[in-house]
Amino acid sequence: MEITIRKTTAPRVKPSDETGLGFGRSFTDHMFIMDYTDGKGWHDPRIVPYGPLALEPSTMTLHYGQTVFEGLKAYRTKGGDILLFRPEKNMERLNVSNERLCIPQIDVDFCVKALKTLVDTERDWVPSSEGTSLYLRPFIIATDPFLGVHPSHTYQFIVICSPSGQYYPEGVNPVKIWVESKYVRAVKGGVGYSKTAANYAASLKAQQEAEDAKYTQVLWLDGVERKYIEEVGTMNVFFVINGEVITPRLQGSILPGITRMSVIELLRAQGRTVTERAISIQEVYDAHTAGTLEEAFGTGTAAVISPIGELNRDGEKIILHGNTTGPVARALYNDLTGIQSGEAADTFGWTQRV
Ligand code: COI
Repeated sequence: MEITIRKTTAPRVKPSDETGLGFGRSFTDHMFIMDYTDGKGWHDPRIVPYGPLALEPSTMTLHYGQTVFEGLKAYRTKGGDILLFRPEKNMERLNVSNERLCIPQIDVDFCVKALKTLVDTERDWVPSSEGTSLYLRPFIIATDPFLGVHPSHTYQFIVICSPSGQYYPEGVNPVKIWVESKYVRAVKGGVGYSKTAANYAASLKAQQEAEDAKYTQVLWLDGVERKYIEEVGTMNVFFVINGEVITPRLQGSILPGITRMSVIELLRAQGRTVTERAISIQEVYDAHTAGTLEEAFGTGTAAVISPIGELNRDGEKIILHGNTTGPVARALYNDLTGIQSGEAADTFGWTQRV
């Protein structure tokens, strides 16, 4: 399929101060759109000016949440080139989410090509200051105008771009995390492993209460026993206990993060032991009491590597690594962002030039 390009006649003003970009607030001149119709498959891939979508109020995605999304970034190297980080992994994961949400599969190679064509069109929008990137948000929505609870017969795959800085106001400094004991995010058999709006809708109430209590995000526990650690609001989570790096195993209710996967591969290549297993919140608190909890951090595309400085479980607070960034998180941040920005050798072959 050929991707047609219709350029805007009214280019937007680019943010002048890259240090104040924040996350997901401004959008570029163009977006990618492709349609799906039963019997015809995906068709009409096109890049068009960024702007409102015309949808009937009856559009299915608005009512029953049949939608999936992804998040990845385009980075500007010091030499001015643009790199994507493992874009095929995002498109593969989109297909895993699609399968769960009864949305038709996409062609991974074609969609990576579409991402590259869009980023190429928006080259001038990729920021260059440290810690900034062009955040890409691919998503698919069910577009049938129909109120029955049933998978749609038509869809749109859309990609928008947002020049962004740090997701958290704390930047790379430690974040305070609220251990959630009242609400649950997902259960096995549900949609927890898919990147779909429902997981984020389910998180809002807990997130709001955590923010009211001056915490950055919540740490989710399993939905059945409320005992085992799952993930943090917008990231996967890692603990370093007695030299061992531990992260919850993927058992169906946790998002299989691409940064999580990359961190595990990086650490293992460096000879560190990384264990993917069930880890209870009690084990973390016990390790803190025993003095063996060395550090904890979150991983995510938007969050990158985010050290955890404090946990609060029902009022019982523990401070991790003196509320400073630990050595494992610091080294990972440097290694990962080094590869993403083209500063360090990409020995894994993770980046793709646009
Ligand atoms: C990402 O890290 O890209 C995400 O999708 C998290 C997000 C909901 C901001």
